[in-house]
Amino acid sequence: MEKTVKIGLLGCGTVGGGVIIVLNENKEEIAKKAGCNIEIKTVLVRDKTKLKPEITKYNIGCTDNLDDILNDPEIDIVVELIGRVHPAKEYIEAAINHGKSVVTANKDVLADYGKSLFNLAAEKKVDFQFEGAVGGGIPIIRPLRACLAANKISSIMGIINGTTNYMLTKMSEEGLSYAQALAEAQAKGYAESDPTADVEGIDAARKIAVLASLAFNTALTLKDVHVEGIDNIEACDIEYARDLGYVVKLLGIAKNDPENGITANVYPVMLPKSHPLASVNDVYNAIYVNGDAVGDAMFLGRGAGRLPTASAVCGDIIDTVRNLNNHACGRISGNLFEKKKMCPPEKEMAPCYFRLLVTDRPGVLAAIASTFAAQQMSIASVIQKNVMENGMAELVIITNKVSKLSIDLSLRTLQVLPVVKDVCSVLRVEDPNLP
Ligand code: NDP
Ligand code: HSE
Repeated sequence: MEKTVKIGLLGCGTVGGGVIIVLNENKEEIAKKAGCNIEIKTVLVRDKTKLKPEITKYNIGCTDNLDDILNDPEIDIVVELIGRVHPAKEYIEAAINHGKSVVTANKDVLADYGKSLFNLAAEKKVDFQFEGAVGGGIPIIRPLRACLAANKISSIMGIINGTTNYMLTKMSEEGLSYAQALAEAQAKGYAESDPTADVEGIDAARKIAVLASLAFNTALTLKDVHVEGIDNIEACDIEYARDLGYVVKLLGIAKNDPENGITANVYPVMLPKSHPLASVNDVYNAIYVNGDAVGDAMFLGRGAGRLPTASAVCGDIIDTVRNLNNHACGRISGNLFEKKKMCPPEKEMAPCYFRLLVTDRPGVLAAIASTFAAQQMSIASVIQKNVMENGMAELVIITNKVSKLSIDLSLRTLQVLPVVKDVCSVLRVEDPNLP
């Protein structure tokens, strides 16, 4: 094929390196599908000496000056893979302002500045694509923007962080400690450069903000998402969950209730073992969507890692090349976002699991039950676990559906109740069988 579309790649780390490998190793196949050759002309790096032989063997041009890419008229597409918000957002804007289409996997930028970047790309009539930003290699952005566009989406929930799902799997199945499991996830290239974003749920919160924005056609940002991570989960919570017929998963959950409004949460959830998301383990992610026409649909695959994410990024590159060749860039813009109502905390309902450390003596249960009753919280089951030698016991309580506001108010009372020594853990339970 004679024609070649040239790319400027920003960042050559885990995913950037993967994109170079996939575009080079599969180049004949890709050229046939794209209708022309695709070549990475220049890579922006901070330190050329860091490039590994697995990358330098492809003889790609290298620079530490962004202007070399922006001012190169041969480069039509900029692929941003440096991560974090700044200067990535400014680099993306500069590329679009130079008339270049942009592909990114950067959910940090999308969750804060998605709307303004969609609008800028629409104004400049270039593509702005980001399939790799959510769910690594799983196709979910394009399905939401295209295949499912005819639906009114009522909910979107999923395991959308590979690092934490890998950690929870290793902790529950192989008994690894939290620190060991995190170190393994980092070594495999799953974690963010700052892994606190993974374990504190921020990465998943950014992703659910992106998904909910597309699903509900409104611009949600990180600030609109209530976030709890897995950093307080203990091995005993995972064990108790197992005893009760549940597994613990970090879920992103966004719902659009026509009456009460939109909710967006990230928290560890107890999920019945029979739920389709319960068996999604290791680095796998899955996203479960409900639309009025399609019903339930689940998207499953590797949620992080070099080649799975490169697969999504390269898919976007090929799609952009096709649009360039057909003078059709900017076809799918995101600038139709409307302002929509967010659900107030007193209307946001879910069953809840409490693990309390209490004094093991008569009347304790009654004191706790009356705290819950005062907040209209109905108890589904109570189990006393681990009576200890020091006169303390662990109490596990599962409630029926309770509002987020009631949970917060009951916690304030429990924390000062003399018989309660510690509120060790509070987890939502996503169980349709609990009223
Ligand atoms: P890495 O940290 O592995 O790679 C980022 C690279 O960008 C590093 O080589 C870094 O260089 C370079 N870089 C950072 N800032 C600059 C700059 N200002 N100029 C030039 N180079 C710069 O990250 P990943 O590859 O893992 O992630 C890239 C993006 O993809 C992120 O947005 C991430 O959230 C996203 N993503 C990652 C996934 C994964 O599984 N890893 C999955 C899905 C999305 P240096 O080494 O000098 O710091
Ligand atoms: N750190 C992220 C994760 C990378 O573990 O899911 C993929 O977005």
